[in-house]
Amino acid sequence: MSMPYNQTILKYFLNPKNVGQIENPDATATEGSPACGDMVKLYLKVDPETLVIQDIKFQSYGCASNIATASIITEIAKGKTIEEAKQISWESANRELGGLPPVKIHCAVLAVDALKTAIENYEHTHGLLKEKIPTDESTVTKRLRSVINPVLGKDIISTDLVNGIDISSGTVKVHVKMKEDEQFFANVKDEIIERISPLWDIRKVEVVPNGD
Ligand code: FES
Repeated sequence: MSMPYNQTILKYFLNPKNVGQIENPDATATEGSPACGDMVKLYLKVDPETLVIQDIKFQSYGCASNIATASIITEIAKGKTIEEAKQISWESANRELGGLPPVKIHCAVLAVDALKTAIENYEHTHGLLKEKIPTDESTVTKRLRSVINPVLGKDIISTDLVNGIDISSGTVKVHVKMKEDEQFFANVKDEIIERISPLWDIRKVEVVPNGD
């Protein structure tokens, strides 16, 4: 059997840093990979004066590459300002890790996307956006691309689980092709709400099951 991982990746996978949850986080992001259906959740604590990331933690439901990448990028991000942390890319994480197997690049992208989204969510909820672009259907669709359809293990947009998005005066309604009592409806609902509600101009998110 061949071992596809180098020593650095193995070290981070076996002893991951910053694993866990933060109580009362200032921002979170749950990002699902459209490529493999795995998920990672990231928590941030940010100093409101200096915008320095004081604490950062993650929980991964992904593979070794995802855990190793999340581990290394959270180490790099801790103590940096959110502006500095935005510069962290999957390419730089991949370099620090000594190179992931090419089929595992999406796992690094997933971890970095979770960091980027958590920072973005922080900016949305703390009045820090440079441009206040009103939320439209494309913004919502883009965000829903990282909510995973648990039955099919792919995102809810490409698996056609969403059959309508209405946005009006601060309320987003997402219509899903699921029954209210269906297994996973509650999970999908929670994730959609978590994903959409940080948007700066959104006050309410409703997930409407089929038939309503
Ligand atoms: Fe899904 Fe790596 S295969 S995160």
